[in-house]
Amino acid sequence: MKQVISISLGSSANNYEFQSTFLGQKFKIRRIGTNGDYDKAIDLLIQLDAETDAFGLGSVKLPVPRKTGRLIGMASNLLNQVRDDSGRIAKLRSRLKTPVTTGDHLIKVAHEWAIRSLQFEYTGYFNNSRVLFLSGINNLHMASVMSEFTENLTFADPVIDSGISRFIHSFKDLELYAKGIHDILKWVPSKRLSDSAIPLKRWNQHIIRKAMQKAHIIVVPYHNFYSYIGDCTPEELGGKTIITTTAYDDRIEFLKNQGVDVIIDTTPKLLKRVVGVNVQEALVIAALGKKEHQITDEEMLELMTESETGLRPRLVYPGGEPKHKTRFAFVIHPLSQEQFKLEKAVKPFVNIPGAVDAVEKVVAYAPPWVYSTITGIKSPTGVEAEGWLITVGGTPKQMMTHSPEFTYKRLLMAARMAKRLGAQIMGLGAFTKVVGDAGVTVAKKAAIPITTGNSYSASGALWAAADAVRRMGLIEIEEGKKINGKTMVFGATGAIGSVCCRLLAMAFEEVYLCGRNIVKLMALKESILKETPDVKLHTVVNPDKHTPEMDVIVTATSGMGKKILDITKVKPGCVITDVARPLDLSPEDVAKRPDVLVIESGEILLPGDPKMKDIGLPPKVAYACLAETIVLALDRRFEVFTIGRDIEWEKVKAIYKMGLKHGMRLAAISGVNGVFTDADIAKVRDLALAARKQTGETSVEDQEEEPPVRKKRAAVRSGHKN
Ligand SMILES: NC(=O)c1ccc[n+]([C@@H]2O[C@H](COP(=O)([O-])OP(=O)(O)OC[C@H]3O[C@@H](n4cnc5c(N)ncnc54)[C@H](OP(=O)(O)O)[C@@H]3O)[C@@H](O)[C@H]2O)c1
Repeated sequence: MKQVISISLGSSANNYEFQSTFLGQKFKIRRIGTNGDYDKAIDLLIQLDAETDAFGLGSVKLPVPRKTGRLIGMASNLLNQVRDDSGRIAKLRSRLKTPVTTGDHLIKVAHEWAIRSLQFEYTGYFNNSRVLFLSGINNLHMASVMSEFTENLTFADPVIDSGISRFIHSFKDLELYAKGIHDILKWVPSKRLSDSAIPLKRWNQHIIRKAMQKAHIIVVPYHNFYSYIGDCTPEELGGKTIITTTAYDDRIEFLKNQGVDVIIDTTPKLLKRVVGVNVQEALVIAALGKKEHQITDEEMLELMTESETGLRPRLVYPGGEPKHKTRFAFVIHPLSQEQFKLEKAVKPFVNIPGAVDAVEKVVAYAPPWVYSTITGIKSPTGVEAEGWLITVGGTPKQMMTHSPEFTYKRLLMAARMAKRLGAQIMGLGAFTKVVGDAGVTVAKKAAIPITTGNSYSASGALWAAADAVRRMGLIEIEEGKKINGKTMVFGATGAIGSVCCRLLAMAFEEVYLCGRNIVKLMALKESILKETPDVKLHTVVNPDKHTPEMDVIVTATSGMGKKILDITKVKPGCVITDVARPLDLSPEDVAKRPDVLVIESGEILLPGDPKMKDIGLPPKVAYACLAETIVLALDRRFEVFTIGRDIEWEKVKAIYKMGLKHGMRLAAISGVNGVFTDADIAKVRDLALAARKQTGETSVEDQEEEPPVRKKRAAVRSGHKN
């Protein structure tokens, strides 16, 4: 039987001895703690040299580049441990015939593997995460790998090692710091502050706590674990992901009590029992019968992945159930001057007579700012999403007045902000993707995946239309058959309009494509016929002649509230879905036709218990384009999803299905006067049937005997018919 002995400078209270099998070989594994007695450790090594196959050295510290200053508050216990033992270890090695290891090679490989395998298994896991390294130097390799996935890195080394109240924010600067050539002297605090030790110490504690609160992920060194975070509370650690090594049960219990969401233990589990990395590396050395420096990274990784328990980084969920959080950002903008009243900074000026136009112009130039955070979204799959609503200042009028570059510039600023905040994907709301090329340029230039949300907007619009049509019950729908009815799309050549046409062509027998440019309409018609040859398609520039025949109308123009459709011409009982923002149909127009159901596209009810500031919708309800961004985040689809004006209908179906998987529901359909109840819809239906009877149109319903109340309403309706 081979023997592996770990000599640790740590407490002898944690000593153990047990037998185990590794790579088919039997091992006796012992740990002997010397309670910080270095000479005793050396004596033990010499004494046990002849009977040991590999030594592990525990609680020793390998090269720390500087020992310049005092440590601060939370980490003050570290002072005694910050030393460079590498010289001594080298000397020791030359005196012993048995290989000696501190486990650092294994840690290096394990760290890289942990980060890369999680990033692969949970797509984009670390993308743009805000990661705080309490000691970058002790996790240099992990920091280097992490820097491939996120630029939001913070290293507390100067604060903790040197008592200098500044963090390092890039891996490049950390490398310079590690080599001792970083010019941190210019960061040394002013004489007044440094003379007074207590304020500086407190200030450093304060900034470390703040940095922890801002972080999504905190990397805690495995040495002196409690010295780094022993004083922390749920305020700093609640909801965080902690990356550490050798997460013993007591550490897990501690982190659980602080409300930590996830613990990523990068320690490979070569044995069922959690033992130090020095023991594990000694085990590998002894099993291979090689000297420590003869083992390559590949060998180490191969061995670990072949071990009985496999080398998967251990994910511990202290709360009991798996926790996965993703992050998104979504850009909004004021839809009208009215909405300035929602923003505190601008509100006072809006009430000054005559000032609102000037405010509208000035605000359009403002850099983006965070309007609201969104929390509490939880998919039935267990994944949670949180995000930020970032607003740019331009109203639709302002965006259309300026060149597209004006809006692109602000959207790219918003994308940079989103990335800094930690978002993994960003969506574009309302007019931010109407201007210019509908997100193409922004997606090309932004360092974060972009989606316009238009696939889900189209899906939501048709979902709502289908729901409304079903509830109105005026069109016969036979399973597996095309609907024997007519539908028209206004803004047919637009991003949302065109894909609505494609999908309606699959559902209806006749579709009218309505737009301003006949050439664009003809091209669209041709392309739809290639996909769906069995539909009757009409291209229309002057719609009035045809609107009286339509059963369903979708309006999706960017006409900014200009009159698009003469509602007085519409067939009684027609369902109109107004997707446009600002709406294509004014409340005054809608009021003219109580026998027509005008719904405001399909908003989406978010899963979980979402919390955000008012965006002009009922609680928990989001615009479909915002919902698309959320669905993609929940599904870890951190990719450019919908951009441009040529949306594939497959994407609309895909996002619809993805939305259902993540618990998205169609919000109650609403119109200019709020949510439609069943009674409201029955009322519209009655008025429609009555009006149709008057005009001599027959339908299945017309055959029914009309109840007196319907007759009365019909009379009222005909009284104010245009
Ligand atoms: N409800 C939601 O959740 C939601 C989500 C996203 C977008 N939206 C809104 O949906 C609308 C369409 O967005 P989109 O991204 O599809 O925009 P888009 O690609 O720019 O398409 C706009 C369409 O409107 C037409 N149009 C513009 N001005 C018009 C006018 N005065 N009269 C008639 N047609 C006009 C354009 O015709 P030409 O091709 O002839 O220029 C084009 O076909 C916008 O109002 C947007 O704010 C709503």
